[in-house]
Amino acid sequence: VIMSKLNDTFVLGEQLAHHLGIQRVIIIPGDSGSHTQVLKSMGEELNRVLDKLLPLGSSTIAAMGGTTMAAVATALTPQLSKQRQLLFVPARGGLGETMGIQANTICAEMAAHSSGNYRNLYVPEDISPESFQSLVGEPVVRSVLEQISRANVVIHSIGRAKVMAQRRNMTTSEIQLLEERQAVSEAFGVFLDVHGQVVYKVPKIGLQVSDLDKVSDVIAIAGGAQKAQAIQSYMKIAPHQTILITDEAASEMILRDK
Ligand code: BG6
Repeated sequence: VIMSKLNDTFVLGEQLAHHLGIQRVIIIPGDSGSHTQVLKSMGEELNRVLDKLLPLGSSTIAAMGGTTMAAVATALTPQLSKQRQLLFVPARGGLGETMGIQANTICAEMAAHSSGNYRNLYVPEDISPESFQSLVGEPVVRSVLEQISRANVVIHSIGRAKVMAQRRNMTTSEIQLLEERQAVSEAFGVFLDVHGQVVYKVPKIGLQVSDLDKVSDVIAIAGGAQKAQAIQSYMKIAPHQTILITDEAASEMILRDK
């Protein structure tokens, strides 16, 4: 029974990868939206995927923020650093979110669990263009930005537009705009509608979606029935080399809508 269940999930993953137009989809049984154990298993899967795809030698891994990333960060293991030097960098600037789910914190956490190193990017989210220019001129900021641009792996999650807008304390008029333009997802600071059209962009430094094309491996981690629409929307613009680690609940919902 277990074998046939595993086989079913594998076939479902292939179908979903084809449907979403990405390289690979790995499906963890259950619903991570309601069971934290499922999220933990997604983290273990991330560890396995990284161990398989990271080349020996040096790698720079750019990580995004969020609750999913924070949860999976603790599943990485020191095994990943065997014959490898790993450097974790925050994919985008921004000290705007709660400490525990900032990309900076997640990089430190991932490095601690995988025996790697990390760099932080100290650039606030809301900053005037003048201060921005002078901060970017700082050697320490510039050197982290250079490391981000050299990342060979990117790990990120996908958020629901409404949830992200509230969490980021966006203004009433910005939220209204997102509603009017029917934004459903957010990733890398861009809000998208169901067709994958960018309807709003939060200016930030660091990695942009358009930079992903030159990154060898992109891993997206997002699950839960509630995120199905957001995942589907973002995958319309995701680069083909994306590997999605998701759960059964989101997968079934996406394939049902097909
Ligand atoms: C944010 C990222 O921190 O987390 C977003 O900047 C991402 O790009 C979001 O979509 C996902 O958050 P969560 O909490 O749903 O994992």
